[in-house]
Amino acid sequence: MSESKKPVFQPNPEFSKDARIKNMSEYQALQDEAINDYESFWSRFAKEKVDWIEPFTKTLDESNFPFVKWFDGGKLNVSTQCIDRHLDTRGEKTAILFEGDRGDIQKITYNELAKSVNKFANLLKEDFGVKKGDRIVIYMPMIPEAAFAMLACTRIGAIHSIVFGGFSAEALKDRIIDANAKVVITADGAFRKGKPYMLKPVVDTALEGNTSVKNVLVIERNKEEITWVDGRDNSYAELIKNKSDVCEAEVMDSEDPLFLLYTSGSTGKPKGVQHNTAGYILWAQMTMEWVFDVKEEDVFWCTADVGWITGHTYIVYGPLATGATTVMFEGVPTYPDAGRPWKMVQEHKITHFYTAPTAIRVLHKMGEDEPKKYDLSSLKVLGTVGEPIDPPAWKWYYEEVGNSKCAIVDTYWQTETGGHVISPLPGATPIKPGCATLPVPGIIAEILDPITGEKVGLGESGYMCITRPWPSMIRGVWGDEERFVKAYFGDVKKDGKAVYFTGDGAKYDEDGYITITGRTDDVINVSGHRMGTAEVEAAINKDENVAEVAVVGKPHEIKGEGIFAYIVLKSDVEDEDAERKSINNIIKKEIGNIAICDDIIFAPGLPKTRSGKIMRRILRSIAKGEKITQDISTLEDPSIVAKIEMMVNG
Ligand code: PRX
Repeated sequence: MSESKKPVFQPNPEFSKDARIKNMSEYQALQDEAINDYESFWSRFAKEKVDWIEPFTKTLDESNFPFVKWFDGGKLNVSTQCIDRHLDTRGEKTAILFEGDRGDIQKITYNELAKSVNKFANLLKEDFGVKKGDRIVIYMPMIPEAAFAMLACTRIGAIHSIVFGGFSAEALKDRIIDANAKVVITADGAFRKGKPYMLKPVVDTALEGNTSVKNVLVIERNKEEITWVDGRDNSYAELIKNKSDVCEAEVMDSEDPLFLLYTSGSTGKPKGVQHNTAGYILWAQMTMEWVFDVKEEDVFWCTADVGWITGHTYIVYGPLATGATTVMFEGVPTYPDAGRPWKMVQEHKITHFYTAPTAIRVLHKMGEDEPKKYDLSSLKVLGTVGEPIDPPAWKWYYEEVGNSKCAIVDTYWQTETGGHVISPLPGATPIKPGCATLPVPGIIAEILDPITGEKVGLGESGYMCITRPWPSMIRGVWGDEERFVKAYFGDVKKDGKAVYFTGDGAKYDEDGYITITGRTDDVINVSGHRMGTAEVEAAINKDENVAEVAVVGKPHEIKGEGIFAYIVLKSDVEDEDAERKSINNIIKKEIGNIAICDDIIFAPGLPKTRSGKIMRRILRSIAKGEKITQDISTLEDPSIVAKIEMMVNG
């Protein structure tokens, strides 16, 4: 079937009528405006959207590319943008609608949010001496205090680094050390599937021998027993009691760092992606308005965890900057059954539901008929993020959840892009299943030929690049300038000039729509989250029986990709299953459950070139069950391939 024959779904005319961007001509007009005068475009929106304490003097300074400056000279504060500026008009509106795992509900108004954040900020300043520029690690469950903590940091100019609660003590430790953090904010634990689980003990292990962290702040959520380290650990409930609910916002420069968020790359060590103040918040807000088209009465639910970029931009900063009501959910979507999200949509009259294809596949598989049991008529826009969505999941989402009335915005972006870069606009873009469609206005995203740097033609594939700096782009890799330049600006040149390369391959269809085809590097996408093969290999190598290891991705029905490990042991082990368990336990300890291998094969050797490079392409094909057709005669030991094929595919 030719790609232009792919089914196309037009926007719902009822929705388009009131949308901010109503049709493709309006889309094109905005994109033309950006292309014709890039700086004026951004200057216009920055002036319109941001509450500046002092106006900026220069829109974009590219003189030291790729170290760019946006809105230089401007002064602002992100917590003010997200809270204070709404108080006159929306003070009593619900800012955060929290639902706990066990169904407990909390509605926090903008006025209440202001007080909680100010008190939290005062606590950090007065009790821990936190100052502008200090790094604060947040290791938290999905509870409102996680958002308070983030906003409290931004209020006083501290740089937060959130570590996803599923990461292990080792992973947490590495991130604390890399950022040289002064404070860790955590909770005793929280609830999942009706039962308490713990976080504080993980922090205790991560901090063994650490000298930089002077204070740990513990939010009491599940009130289970925990160990307290005198002089270091502090109870939030105690300290917050006597704090003033007024705290002046620190005046921040546009390019002052806002937060760090560690993400996997193609080397063993995760990168501390740095986002700065003005550009990030501007784009978080603009994409809420354009890509989700959130309106005053809407209730917006992004199911991500605050530990990922999606949670940063579309649970906390974007929705609050827009003055929306944002839903925060502590639990899992399948507890007590796979109707939970739909029950929540009905009860809270949720208008926007944004989740990962993995979650859609699980909900589809475990509760195909669940959506029918609830009134989902409040829904207007559905979103997906993190990985390509497959046609069966898309169809079910569109028809059963969205009642064939809601646009599905397939949003393509990354930790590094800060916000959406390629996505349909719900009132304007005709959509095709599994297709991220077109750049969001203002983003100059092009598929380039990796060799010539020229834009590829319709029907052709290449590297997904962004050829002009954009406001919410990554500003650096914490503590490693060289890695920043090399990792993102080292691969593709357009007209002789380095451009940002996402690491993803992509293809234009016959209408010029963009389909993301997946990573071109050694990064696996597990349930919409990035996992570097080198990182998993480094963990596996810690097993004393392991001589060599190569890890690849393998298609997985639910997770999108699962992790497949080929391991060469130093010598035979008695019990292979016990060895597999021990390897996965090491992964759990070093990284966390998210990196556990679905398949572990003990191979007699690995396919390598004569220069010793492991041929992962061959290993990927074998893992997928494909016949090896490529020339293997140049391998150091070609017979290895047949042996491994035999072991895996019989
Ligand atoms: O490979 C792309 C994939 O997820 C990667 C970014 O991962 P991360 O930084 O963890 O951020 C995930 C949430 C923004 C990308 O390089 N990806 C993200 N969105 C899509 C996607 N692949 C296909 N379609 C998408 N919509």
